[in-house]
Amino acid sequence: MAGQSNPRVRHLRQLLGDVRLVRGDLLDQGSLIAAVERVQPDEVYNLAAISYVPMSWQQAELTGEVTGLGVLRVLEAIRVCSGISASRSPGRGQIRFYQASTSEMFGQVTVTPQNEQTPFHPRSPYGVAKAYGHFLTQNYRESYGMFAVSGIMFNHESPRRGAEFVTRKVSLGVAKIKLGYERQLRLGNLHASRDWGFAGDYVRAMQLMLGQDQPADYVIGTGVTHAVEALVERAFRHAGLDWHDHVVTDTAFIRPAEVDRLCADPAKARDELGWEPKMGFEELVCMMVDADLELLAASGGLAGDSFGTDSW
Ligand code: GDD
Repeated sequence: MAGQSNPRVRHLRQLLGDVRLVRGDLLDQGSLIAAVERVQPDEVYNLAAISYVPMSWQQAELTGEVTGLGVLRVLEAIRVCSGISASRSPGRGQIRFYQASTSEMFGQVTVTPQNEQTPFHPRSPYGVAKAYGHFLTQNYRESYGMFAVSGIMFNHESPRRGAEFVTRKVSLGVAKIKLGYERQLRLGNLHASRDWGFAGDYVRAMQLMLGQDQPADYVIGTGVTHAVEALVERAFRHAGLDWHDHVVTDTAFIRPAEVDRLCADPAKARDELGWEPKMGFEELVCMMVDADLELLAASGGLAGDSFGTDSW
């Protein structure tokens, strides 16, 4: 796992119980080969990346290395450990590979909703790096016959989301204001729209993708889009607050190039995987606010601060 600025490992250890962690770094090919050799996995899910879009302008080269070339290194580790030569010999067994692709690859869209055929126009170094990883995954499938697939995931959220992302920033902000720890929440562009779903539903889609007979890429999203302002309104209302009294827009959170509106067409996933999201937008937002109210009440208002700042 390559390091982002979040203390994720501590978080992971608390959740995983007796699951064994093996060290690997997306910047280090040898460490990935060693990890795959040691574990001899049936399936590999690459969810590792620099995934916070604003950080990708600050550290564009590192984002290319981790989020883009990191995919190449994982695929190469699988190829080498499976004994697949560059001339496409069959190799030993088959490790199935899942790549976390993203709706950020669609970027500035001209077609709504977006499906597997929609062209890419990424708007950040992050989106560009993810597009590289996406095409490379397809290329290893076509070049070496590997079971390598991409899930083009729209935004997926839960109370475990990092506090730098807007859903969690809002749920934590609402909880802090409600409990009297803060009075204001500073946000960027309230007019951007996203197709937000529950992360647990999306993990189910990833597993279904690797369980198919034939490898294929899928768009995963709810098909419903909301503006950031609607998210804010719903979250504050759930806590009995009026967002107009607390939200301040701050140019520090405006991006150099924005993705204005994303909305998934998940028809292929529904038809071929039998996948449908179980949790809708309202339930998701209210669940996140409730979780943060509980967390903050238990921690005396300190929870979330360890994630650091989200301005870029
Ligand atoms: N983070 C953040 N903070 N976003 C804000 C804020 C703010 O204060 N104010 C407005 N926004 C807007 C952003 O400009 C963006 O349009 C939208 O809220 C969502 O921002 P994020 O929650 O940071 O997510 P994202 O859409 O950029 O990217 C996330 O989803 C992608 C699709 O699954 C990340 O998880 C990506 O890694 C992922 O690929």
